[in-house]
Order: sequence, then structure tokens, then C-alpha cells
Amino acid sequence: MPATPAVEFDGIRKTFGATTALDGVSFAIPEGAVHALLGENGAGKSTAVKLLAGLLRPTEGTIRIHGRPHAGASPRAAHALGVQTAFQEMTLVRDLTVLDNILLPYAPMGPTGLIRRTAARAAVAGHLEALGFAVDLDAEIAELELSVRQKIEIARALWRRPRVLLLDEPTSTLAGRDVDWLGEIIAAERKRGTTVVFITHRMREVRAFCDSLTILRNGRHIVSGPVAGISDAEVIEKIIGRSIEQTFPPRPAAAPLGAPVFGVRDLSVGTKLAGVSLDLHRGEILGIAGLQGMGQQDLFLACFGMTELRAGSILVDGRPVRLGSPADAIRANVAIGLVPEDRKTEGLFLKLSGRTNASIPVVSRFAPRGLIDGAAETRAVGAAFDAVEVDRRALFTRAGAFSGGNQQKIAISRWLVAESRILLLFDPTRGIDVGTKHELYRMMRAYVAAGGSILFHSTEIPELIHLSDRVLVLYDGRIAAELAGEAITEPAIMRPALGHDHAGQAA
Ligand SMILES: Nc1ncnc2c1ncn2[C@@H]1O[C@H](COP(=O)(O)OP(=O)(O)OP(=O)(O)O)[C@@H](O)[C@H]1O
Ligand SMILES: [Mg+2]
Repeated sequence: MPATPAVEFDGIRKTFGATTALDGVSFAIPEGAVHALLGENGAGKSTAVKLLAGLLRPTEGTIRIHGRPHAGASPRAAHALGVQTAFQEMTLVRDLTVLDNILLPYAPMGPTGLIRRTAARAAVAGHLEALGFAVDLDAEIAELELSVRQKIEIARALWRRPRVLLLDEPTSTLAGRDVDWLGEIIAAERKRGTTVVFITHRMREVRAFCDSLTILRNGRHIVSGPVAGISDAEVIEKIIGRSIEQTFPPRPAAAPLGAPVFGVRDLSVGTKLAGVSLDLHRGEILGIAGLQGMGQQDLFLACFGMTELRAGSILVDGRPVRLGSPADAIRANVAIGLVPEDRKTEGLFLKLSGRTNASIPVVSRFAPRGLIDGAAETRAVGAAFDAVEVDRRALFTRAGAFSGGNQQKIAISRWLVAESRILLLFDPTRGIDVGTKHELYRMMRAYVAAGGSILFHSTEIPELIHLSDRVLVLYDGRIAAELAGEAITEPAIMRPALGHDHAGQAA
């Protein structure tokens, strides 16, 4: 008799009103496998995870965990079946401490609670240490960076000793070293016999971490099978339903730099960025490279008027400007495609429609006489949604109902609606599916070919290499290297990014 699978989807349908998120999906995951769940933004991955986690109930069909039917009644019912989840839109409580978040909802209480709490605290500290994750147990979640929150979300799921561990796009908020950290954890869980469901948009992670995979498209099951039996090109084709030639558009022949349109001089911001000067030219994509926390965030926020300068100045068309707020920046023709770190709380207004979310920075343009011209607003936002491949139905749907990647795309569509000459793109492809990434790259090229300019940070080094005309590498808040054209290579970026000078010595 074949072994009972750890997870079985049997004819699962899930609808939200008129939207069908999953449509007759059946597949099984063998016990102990690390299984990738792949698909475009909105394909139904998070819906599948939420069904397993007990947050949603199927409209039709049955889910079985180790052969036992999953009623999907509650997260507790899922926990009882050994299912634990690190969610894409993280579920940590912002104003509770790290310790409380890990212990909830099973925190010791009552008369003997205090003693057990002391013991629990020591146990959690030991757990985090064993994971190689140093964090202050008494810090409030709201004070912590997004990547740290993501690691807590993962550590909490592991604390409860899962038999089935669900990881919904954990790496879209983790960079470099933290992705390696997660890889080691997944390997350790596999050794323990845990079944892992891993969602990502990056093939390299599927190859490195996973044994088998399932591809969903438009809520339908396309294929399940071993990772070794399918090529990257086939996976991409099955994800998007057509083949794409290449990931990056060709780099145009090197041309002389245009006039400087935007710049900073001796800029110092926050605790990191110190004395940075740069010029962005007409028609240029200027890449900003750097490992997490090297000052890139402060640089971008300052350029969009979102933070105080400690020293230095910002220039638009060669003249110093004071950017006291994003409104000043938009008036100066600078738009930010900064996808704020925490999309859920800082990015979108989840109760407002997609249309309002996309037009909000420039909504006064649609209200020349005080009243919003809804038709003009719909035209402008609709065109932007077409460009980022968001369904036009999203115009009138509340943003909270969109998939994670579609929320991201709506955040990006804002800068298309704003029609600015200068774009600041901060890691814009995080959580975006492969087909749309390709579209976004083409849009970036078309934008600069038409005379726009882009300041571009990405945590994906290949994006910086293939899209930038020049790259500045930040290390410890300073520009450690400048590269141009063919000299932009991975080693040429990584050496200064890691603090090594040209002779290969640690700085
Ligand atoms: N609560 C909800 N109300 C209405 N529609 C929803 C809701 N949750 C999900 N949907 C819709 O169901 C579909 C599948 O969404 P889901 O979040 O599962 O996508 P996903 O594969 O996780 O995408 P992403 O890669 O962007 O995270 C989408 O069309 C989404 O808009
Ligand atoms: Mg999702």
C-alpha cells in the first residue's frame, strides 16, 4: 500500500463572491518532502495555504493531513493536525513583544502562569539560539525591521514543532544571508521528517531547497512532480501559460550621459548614510547596490522627502530643492516607486479601492475644480493597471482582497499614474511573478528611452547588472565603488558590497 501523503487536496474549490481562487484542485505531497508551490500573482497559492492553516474553509472538496480530513474550522484545528504557518502578510501583533508573539495564543496564564512564563521565556530563548537567530525578546514588533519580523514569523511556526510547515513567500522579505539561514532551517526540518510547503517566485530557491513542486495557474492545478524532472524554462512556461524568450531586455549600446536631472550632494541621513554624492542623468538607470542596511533605504526616503536630512542637499535640474514631504517631491517631478517595506500597514489603504489607492498621490490632478473627475481617474489608473497586468476589476475592489503580489503591483502603478520624470524604484520586483517582472523590466527601459530617469535599488544582483547603466555600491553608508557598462558584474559588485577593497582586503 502506498504511504499516506502528508497533505492531500481533493477536488478543492474556493470562491470569494464572484472570484474563483481555486478551481477543482487535486494534488498530494508525500510525507517529509520539501514541496514548492508555484504560480503567478493571484494564482491561488496563499488561498491554498490559508485553507491548510484553517483560516478559510473550502467551498467544495476535502483536504486531508496525514490521512485525516481537515475541517478547516480554525487555526487551532490546523495546529492540532500539526500544521504551522509563516504567512505572507505577516500575522504578528505589532504592539506586543517578540516573546508574547511567539507564545500566543498558548501563553501561560492564571495563578501558576508567572512561573511557567519564566520557564517559557528560557525555552523560547533556547529555541531562537538553536535557530541561530539573535533578537531581543522584549522588543515590540513595531520597532523591528520587516526581515526580522519575517524571521520571527518563521521561528514562531517552528516553536510549535510542526509536522507540516507552510512558508508563504518568506524570502520576498529576506535578503542574501537570511535566505541562506532559511535554507539551513529547511534542511534541518527535512532531516526531522517535517513536510514543508514553500512558496517563492525564485527558481533558484526551488532548485536549492525543494524536492517536488506543484504549479497553479488561475486557480487550476497544472502539474505536480519532482523538481529534478523539469527545466526552468518549462516551469516558467507552465506558470505563465506561454514561453518567454529571456528574462532581461537587451541593454542598449552605451551612449554618452545626458544632462544631470537629479542629484544629491554630501548627503547624510539617519544613522547610516554619510556624505553621499551622486548624479542621475536624463535617460539613465542608476543602480544602487548594497547589502541590507547599508543606507540605501535612508537614501531613497530622503530623495522622496520622507525623512530629515542631517546634512547635504538635493538637486533637481541642478538647483537645490527642499523636499519636506512627498508632496514636495511630486511637485518637483520626482515619483517614488518605493514599495514600502510593510505593504500591509504602510503601503496601501486596504479598505479603499484599487483606483483610489493608485491615484491618491496625485488625486488633485483629477479634481481641477475640487470635484474628482471619476472618469478621468478611471482612465489613468486603468491604463496603469493594464501596464502592470492587474485586472481592471481591481479598480473598484478594496485593496485588502488582492493577492500579495497584486497589492505590490498596485503600489507600483502609482508611479505610472503620477507621470513623473524621475523615478525612485526601491526593490520593485519583490514578490512579483516572473511574467510581470519581465514586463516591468521592459517598462523601465521604455521609460528611460523616452527621456525619464530611474534611481534603482534591488536586492537581486542580476537585476542591477542587466538593467543599470551605472551602479553605485553602498557599504556602511558610503559609496564604495562606481561601475559602468560591461564592468558591472557580480564579483565587481559583491567585493565592495562586502567591504573588500580592490586588492581584496577587508576594509
Ligand atoms: N479575501 C478575499 N476576498 C476576495 N478575493 C480574494 C480574497 N483572497 C484572495 N482573493 C482572490 O483570490 C485570488 C487568489 O489569491 P491568492 O492570494 O491565493 O494568490 P497568490 O497565488 O498567493 O498570489 P501572490 O503571488 O500575489 O501572493 C486572487 O484573485 C485574489 O484577488
Ligand atoms: Mg500569496
